[in-house]
Amino acid sequence: MKSFTQKLVVTTALVSSIALGAISAQAEPTAEVLHYWTSGSEAKAVKALKEDFEANGGKWLDAPVAGGGGDAQAAVLRSRVLSGNPPAAVQIKGLSIQEWAEAGALGDLTKLGEEEGWDDVLPPLLQKIVKHDGKYVAVPVNIHRVDWIWANPESLAKVDGEPPRTWEEFNALADKLQAAGITPLAHGGQPWQDGTVFETVVLGMGGAEFYNKAFIEKDIATIKSDTMKKVFDQMRKMRGYVDADFSGRDWNLATSMVMRGEAAMQIMGDWAKGEFIAAGKVPGKDFLCVPTPSNGGYILNSDSFAMFNVSSEDDKAGQALLARLILGEKFQETFNLYKGSIPARMGVPTDKFDECAVKSMVDLQSASESGALVGSMAHEIAASGAIRGAILDVVTEHFNSDMTSDVAVERLAEAIELAE
Ligand code: GAL
Repeated sequence: MKSFTQKLVVTTALVSSIALGAISAQAEPTAEVLHYWTSGSEAKAVKALKEDFEANGGKWLDAPVAGGGGDAQAAVLRSRVLSGNPPAAVQIKGLSIQEWAEAGALGDLTKLGEEEGWDDVLPPLLQKIVKHDGKYVAVPVNIHRVDWIWANPESLAKVDGEPPRTWEEFNALADKLQAAGITPLAHGGQPWQDGTVFETVVLGMGGAEFYNKAFIEKDIATIKSDTMKKVFDQMRKMRGYVDADFSGRDWNLATSMVMRGEAAMQIMGDWAKGEFIAAGKVPGKDFLCVPTPSNGGYILNSDSFAMFNVSSEDDKAGQALLARLILGEKFQETFNLYKGSIPARMGVPTDKFDECAVKSMVDLQSASESGALVGSMAHEIAASGAIRGAILDVVTEHFNSDMTSDVAVERLAEAIELAE
């Protein structure tokens, strides 16, 4: 059966694929850029790209869609493609890139990639994400690590607490904080945020093999296992650690709660660090970054811009310029310092990056060597939109009800089977 995106594109008869390397000299590079980077730090990061683009003669048409995790943007993108008018450049990720490429909606950047030597500067891991059938269809801007705890050191000190290294320690610390009247966990009750917490617990309690069996192989015995039940038990505990107003809260507001000491910790990818940095906070002093307990695991997320099929020479020139700038060494540094992530490009000097970023770089390397590196399910690296949606539905329903772990694993198995 064809996926939704495939059907979409087939029925809308989009312009045929284009070779973005060949651009006419007279064109005025223009790009409508669809993204969901609207928090303080995200806006700074995207502004750096806009300014670089404009300084190089580009005309930037900004198309932001608020909504963390990109679910609101995904709906806008589908309707734009359906109406035969896709934006030139869109911030999408992982399997979503593959689905749009499969549907024939993306332009071919391979010629440009050859001219610019992308094969030599991009790690194979990221090449796999942005290539489809051996052709470049997107350019990566960064690597975000998902499995982080952001902690307020003063809140921890109030209960003589140390950053947790196991989930038992996490619970013991959270219980102490709660007893002292401090909200242990800042959380925003939105499906993608529930899913973000959930996947860190899956990796932490099950390990990388279990994680991949559940999310990539969709192995039913794994999904219904006792380990998965323990994961849901832990999610039930987490539900008890959030404040009364968590429903619907944006992720960056949860980050502010940690900054202000209104909550002690947040489990969130390192885009949260961007918010601390934008507020002038110093890692190690004003806030702590500690991986969620997982025995050396690492959950990878990577943002990319995919270039959709466009017909005008100006748009094609805009796409080529944007793609070239995104992989520039200087841009990769500037952008990622704002964004909280680490560069997608290899060889970018690391001296300006803080201790959390350096830890991400070191841990990425060691997790990749030990086999403990996994792609994010909640952020579309390891799971397709349909599977991710099915998982998030169950995780969110469990989080917001008194569903038992036994029922949750059954529901998860059913939802995944239906989505396949
Ligand atoms: C992630 C994305 C990040 C950040 C975050 C909050 O999915 O990769 O770049 O924007 O969502 O919206």
